[in-house]
Amino acid sequence: DTIINEPKRVFRDDHLGGEGVDKSIRKLKDLRGIFKDERAFENMDPETLVYEVISYLPVKEGTQGGVYFGVTSIFPGSVGGEYFMTKGHFHAMIDRTEFYWGIKGEGVLILMDEQRRVWAEKMFPGSFHYIPGRVAHRVANTGKELLSFAASWPSDAGHNYEEIARNGFAKRLIDINGVASLI
Ligand code: F6R
Ligand code: ZN
Repeated sequence: DTIINEPKRVFRDDHLGGEGVDKSIRKLKDLRGIFKDERAFENMDPETLVYEVISYLPVKEGTQGGVYFGVTSIFPGSVGGEYFMTKGHFHAMIDRTEFYWGIKGEGVLILMDEQRRVWAEKMFPGSFHYIPGRVAHRVANTGKELLSFAASWPSDAGHNYEEIARNGFAKRLIDINGVASLI
């Protein structure tokens, strides 16, 4: 009727409360094997928070025609010079696409196709990214503050983490003398 409702909010701490909301956190101990420098990894506190994802999932996973929304926040840091980053994945339904956009902080979106060709795009507040189907995606925080970005993807996309857990990305984002380098 005449009532104007409060909208959902999409920033960290107070965003997306209520039904259908999922919060997941990833600590260093959840990311074993993704960073190159295993010695540096073992010397860090396994409880270190690396990133969190707050997702709004209004329909059941696998629903055709639905859409999901999530905000990922990656803390600043690195493991032996390799920036804190997400696990990265192909979608389980591999042709499913996705949008990412930068909200806060600085980072790099790393993309890899099925032929293992890698390319990357800078992320910053207002940056906009279209991730085509059949392309794995991972984000690294290259800045000194929190990196937050939003994502929207189809509710039937799913996640295939195994491929990346097994073979990684063909390139890594490393701090070389203060410069983020894809090598
Ligand atoms: C969903 C998506 C993002 C990521 C999130 C965390 O398809 O791409 O919401 O899930 O940024 O990264 P992962 O899932 O790779 O740990
Ligand atoms: Zn995705």
